[in-house]
Amino acid sequence: MHTLELPADADRATVYAELLASIRALVDDEPDLVANLANIAAAIKQALPHASWVGFYRQLGPDLVLGPFQGKLACTRIPAGKGVCGAAAARQEAVVVPDVHAFPGHIACDAGTRSEIVVPVVRAGQVLAVLDLDSELPAAFDDHDIAPLTAIAAVVATLAW
Ligand code: SME
Repeated sequence: MHTLELPADADRATVYAELLASIRALVDDEPDLVANLANIAAAIKQALPHASWVGFYRQLGPDLVLGPFQGKLACTRIPAGKGVCGAAAARQEAVVVPDVHAFPGHIACDAGTRSEIVVPVVRAGQVLAVLDLDSELPAAFDDHDIAPLTAIAAVVATLAW
């Protein structure tokens, strides 16, 4: 059993460093993909309390299909190129959306969401999934979240898919 204990006043770099270490340890012990994605979503949500929803959409054929997540009920299937998730998958790069109302085509699974970041999980040039974080706060994520979340996505890409 792993725990993730962080001081309430930890800065972002410390939080992400602890989070990445925890995630590496978690997946090291467990070969099952669903178990690992579920715990990774939980670890991120626990470490980043400003995130109201954290989860994965897997690339299954042309669609992104809901995977393990933490948060409210979510849209099950996102067609190719749609929404922030589809944009991140199509571009194979992180998309930061400080104001979801200003992003054309944003898919509102939860009307309370104000900002979002999506990072693709890419292996050998292929998108396996996207990691999606939502917040009820405006501009909860910025460019400084991209590198640490991409590092988490890189660990996810090493799992047995
Ligand atoms: N807002 C996302 C859809 C997924 S939910 O946020 C969980 C999008 O526009 O792709």
